[in-house]
Amino acid sequence: MTTVQEKMLSDNLSRDSSGELCLGGVGLSRMAEKYGTPLYLYDEDRIRSRCREYKSAMLDSFGVRSRVLYASKAASFKRIYEIMAEEGMGIDVVSMGEIYTAKKAGFPLSEAYFHSNNKTDADIEYAIGEGVGYFVVDNSEELYAISDIATRLGKRQKILLRLTPGIDPHTYAQVNTGMVDSKFGSAIETGQAKEITALALSLDGIELMGFHCHIGSMVFDEGVYIDSARVMLDFVAEMSRELGYLASEIDLGGGFGVRYIEEHPTLDIGGVIARISEFMTEYADELGIPLPIVAMEPGRSIVADAGVTVYTVGTVKRIPGYKSYVSVDGGMTDNPRYALYGSPYTILPVASPVGEDFELCSVVGRCCESGDILQEGVRMPRGIRRGELIACLVTGAYNYSMASNYNRIPRPPVVMLSGGVDSLAVRREMPDDVSALDV
Ligand code: LLP
Repeated sequence: MTTVQEKMLSDNLSRDSSGELCLGGVGLSRMAEKYGTPLYLYDEDRIRSRCREYKSAMLDSFGVRSRVLYASKAASFKRIYEIMAEEGMGIDVVSMGEIYTAKKAGFPLSEAYFHSNNKTDADIEYAIGEGVGYFVVDNSEELYAISDIATRLGKRQKILLRLTPGIDPHTYAQVNTGMVDSKFGSAIETGQAKEITALALSLDGIELMGFHCHIGSMVFDEGVYIDSARVMLDFVAEMSRELGYLASEIDLGGGFGVRYIEEHPTLDIGGVIARISEFMTEYADELGIPLPIVAMEPGRSIVADAGVTVYTVGTVKRIPGYKSYVSVDGGMTDNPRYALYGSPYTILPVASPVGEDFELCSVVGRCCESGDILQEGVRMPRGIRRGELIACLVTGAYNYSMASNYNRIPRPPVVMLSGGVDSLAVRREMPDDVSALDV
């Protein structure tokens, strides 16, 4: 065993007496042996406790006039929607595929909010037909289409309008969505938000419930939420004054950051929500408007630290004078986030902690592409070699849901751990699955 103290990123990770890495108290090597690698492992108890943390924070702060929606793009498969139904959560869905999966899981679609900046007519018809509770409408073209289709189906569809409040979330460009120059939403600054509100109030088949914004992802600064809440409440007051329309709901989106590496802070979700609520209650009072129902839609922070990915090391290439490459049996196909955003991750050996005798490595995948990198500058035990297990931590969000079959590599299975018991949620893809659609 080593003398170096290894710090764990979250309290569901530990080492047992032999030094082996465990998630939710379950040793990773036993899971790797049972299910093979690469393997997505989820601590289901952690997912449930995050749902409860959000729900009680919203209830304590905003009372019953609040909602928590899980942004299911972060991890979307049947078992997740079953958990969300059992935990009494709402969900955010963005495609027919997510709606279909939620339905198969028995999730009550009346509690689903349908996002996306470009819903096709087929999407709209399907979602209305399935009884999706709310549409979050991005633009006026979409609004006309929903009005037409709902009217034809003899329905009145509840909607929120997605607005861009013009707030910079100070995060990476690919997830920055609150600025005026964005493919998402109608901007308050340009007057388009007011126009679309008036339009929504005038159309048949549409029941305008309120407004939505989502400013970005991996946000640690709570001031960003206070700023966007202020802009949204100003807009509610303006619409009340100018159009005589009083919104009954505001959705502030998701975006809370999580801890991928030790340098990242831990957000106190309850504290942040309490301070947002305090501000909103006082500010609504100042504006002389009743505080609407407040919704939030976290994705990453519900599932991220519930997940780890276990890999088996393959080729280890040491290039004298340069560095070492540790290849694993997965890569950008199961986790494209370093390749796409340069996202930091913590990767650890499974058998025992890294001691003082380590080498700095790039951990790379097996795709035919140099950019297929999981992480660079990773400390690995000197002499690490083929057959050893390593784990990438905090992979519960935007890994399985963003996985691909590039190079026709099959996707790993998803295994859930609850109370120390493992169960398969998504089986491993096989070469047959990968070629199943070829005619
Ligand atoms: N609501 C809306 C409208 C969103 O667009 C998103 C994320 C969320 C909620 C949830 O945000 P979260 O709490 O997960 O930050 N693939 C990227 C993340 C894209 C986020 C897209 N929208 C990544 O891997 O970092």
